[in-house]
Formats: sequence, C-alpha cells, structure tokens
Amino acid sequence: MENIVIAIDGYSSCGKSTLAKALAKKLNFIYIDSGAMYRAVTVYFLRHQVALTNDTEVRNALEHIDISFDAKDYNSHVLLNGEDVSEEIRQMHISEQVSPVSALKQVRTAMVKQQQKLGQLKNIVMDGRDIGTTVFPHAQIKLFMTADPKIRAERRYKELLGKGEKVSLEEVFDNLAHRDYLDTTREESPLTRAEDAIILDNTNLTEAEQLNFAVEKVTPFL
Ligand code: C5P
Repeated sequence: MENIVIAIDGYSSCGKSTLAKALAKKLNFIYIDSGAMYRAVTVYFLRHQVALTNDTEVRNALEHIDISFDAKDYNSHVLLNGEDVSEEIRQMHISEQVSPVSALKQVRTAMVKQQQKLGQLKNIVMDGRDIGTTVFPHAQIKLFMTADPKIRAERRYKELLGKGEKVSLEEVFDNLAHRDYLDTTREESPLTRAEDAIILDNTNLTEAEQLNFAVEKVTPFL
C-alpha cells in the first residue's frame, strides 16, 4: 500500500506543528517540520555570513549543509551537521531572517528534494507553506490552517517569553505579519491554499478540538 501523506500548510504561528505532532502521535505517523529545515539553513547562512544575493555562495553553502531529525519527541529535534539547533532556530533573530532565505530558489530546490525523500519512507505528517502545493501535490489529505493574527501573535509571544526571550508583543506581531507577507508574495512556491485543501481556522478551537477535526477528516483514508 502506498504511504499516506498528510500535508499541513498555513500562516506563521497558526499551531501547525502542534496539530501535526499530535496527529502523528495519534496515528503513529512520522512528523516532519519543514519550517525547521529552512530555519536550520538560516542558522548556517548567518553563522557563515552567506550573501543571499550571491548564487555561488548560496550553492557552496548548501553543499555543506546536512539537516536531519532526531526521532525523540516526534522529530522536534533538528540537527544541523549533527549539531542540535532546535533551541536556536526558534530565536527571534532567526525568525527575522528565515523568510528571505527560504525565498531563494536554490534553497527551496534543495529542501523540497529532501522533504520528498523523507515522504517515501513512511506514513508522514509534514507541515509548512508549500507541502500540499509543491512538495506533495498528491498528498491524500491536505489541511490549510489559519487563525486570527492577534491570537497567533499572543500565542507565539507567550511561547517566547516562556523560553526567556526578551521580545515585545508588537515585535512578534510585526514579525508574523512580515513573514506572512514575504511567504505569500515570493516568486518560488508562495504560500497559498491548495485547491483541494480543507481550511481549518483554529482561532476559537482548543488543541483537542482541532485534533478531533483533523482525525475526522483523515479517518476515511486510513
Ligand atoms: O513553520 P515555521 O514558521 O517554522 O517556518 C519558518 C519559515 O520558513 C516560514 O516563515 C517560511 O518563510 C519558511 N518555510 C517555507 N516553506 C516551508 C516551511 C517554512 O518557506 N515549507
């Protein structure tokens, strides 16, 4: 039987990874956070001061980047050349740089190739921006998540405060709005809802409610 792919796309900080992780746990699927891959590339680019406008530098850098996941805690740990960068990738300075990096064609081509390979191995839940449109256009189930921008910013703000980051709610709100703008307007596979994706607005839903919603949609395919 062919592998089942559940593609979850949507705006920044809509709770995609929370739902994707819970769904993977419930169904015993593998969870893959494609955003973490773009964030890890951004960590490398910043550390090595890769000029985004220089195609050769970008190509050379990509040749030196190996991204993998550590399977503990539903693949929440992302490794950049073997180093666990899971904490660093969530920091604000990475969030501020990730969208310009992920808009580069070379970066997308490299990441999409890896993501497609991961999907050949097992039943997976992958979340991101272009999973249902570009990475797995034939995914059996596609969800497109959205939520009120203010609620999204408040959720992310609380999360960052909990981790000891010194940020204001306004900074977080602006970052989400800016990333959404860049992600939806870029030339290379912009964030957009696949025609066959089911919309899930979780502004007023609890985590349990959105999980139930998703399980209900997925069940006929299992
Ligand atoms: O999902 P997350 O917010 O961690 O993603 C960080 C950034 O990575 C997004 O704002 C977007 O620029 C980029 N991204 C992407 N395509 C994906 C996943 C993430 O361009 N499939």
